[in-house]
Amino acid sequence: MSITTKQQPLFTPVRMGKLKLPNRIVMAPLTRMRAANPGHAPTELHAEYYAQRASAGLIIGECTEISPAAYGWADTPGLWSIEQVRGWRKVTDAVHKKGGLMYAQLWHTGALSHPDFFDGALPMSASDVNPQQESVTPSGRKATVAPRPMSREEIRQTVLDFGTAARNAMEAGFDGVQIQANYLYLIAQFLNSATNHRKDEYGGSTENRARFLFEITETVLEQVEPGGDDGLHGRPAGTSERRWNVQALPRHLRWAHHRKRRHDPRAWKSPNKNRFS
Ligand SMILES: Cc1cc2nc3c(=O)[nH]c(=O)nc-3n(C[C@H](O)[C@H](O)[C@H](O)COP(=O)(O)O)c2cc1C
Repeated sequence: MSITTKQQPLFTPVRMGKLKLPNRIVMAPLTRMRAANPGHAPTELHAEYYAQRASAGLIIGECTEISPAAYGWADTPGLWSIEQVRGWRKVTDAVHKKGGLMYAQLWHTGALSHPDFFDGALPMSASDVNPQQESVTPSGRKATVAPRPMSREEIRQTVLDFGTAARNAMEAGFDGVQIQANYLYLIAQFLNSATNHRKDEYGGSTENRARFLFEITETVLEQVEPGGDDGLHGRPAGTSERRWNVQALPRHLRWAHHRKRRHDPRAWKSPNKNRFS
């Protein structure tokens, strides 16, 4: 028996926290490299591109750097300056006008960046491990280098930068934010034992390696309204990222556990171990 398009579950509304998505199609975050201007601000082209896709239930915006120190991919947009917030406001206005919803994706490239972005200085990471990937610089793809391990003060500042970017996202009219913890970017560099050799409270055990992500999550949550305005892009295993191993799986589940405990007081007292362990 055939069913009409209207009856397809994919095209039915769904509630996600306080958001009511008109359908269950979520557009994946896709880097387009179109912020080709000195201020790394989104342009009219961004507004046109995202408005064209506003019929999705929810759009996850492209990777967007939280600070100049986080920068590491040519012609990608940021969310730290007034100019960028104004640019994003035009984008979210265009999407909302067409009835769409949109999240910003908050990004720190860490060791995936390159000295070319910092006048020759090394990019930051958990430890001095070269991820052996390619960095997309303004003059083309270049091999990554061994980064500089972050000091505790730099970790603290980076956590704050994620919070500021989340607040900027709200000011720019986004409906929520997603923390980019995927691939081999900075947060993943902390989570992964292959790229995190720290001896302090941010390295070693699973809990310690996840501490950076948890601190970022808490700080971001202070800037967005609880109840569906935040998310995480991560995945347990990859094919191209040689160093990202299956041990990451419990870490992601622990993150989910952490989130559940935070928003559900009953779960805090009595976590459902079967579901998350
Ligand atoms: C051109 C291109 C750009 C992408 N840009 C981003 C991005 O900015 N942020 C992100 O989290 N993922 C990005 N991705 C990953 C996709 O969102 C998606 O997760 C990936 O293609 C895997 O799809 P799957 O999860 O359905 O298997 C990009 C993928 C492609 C092909």
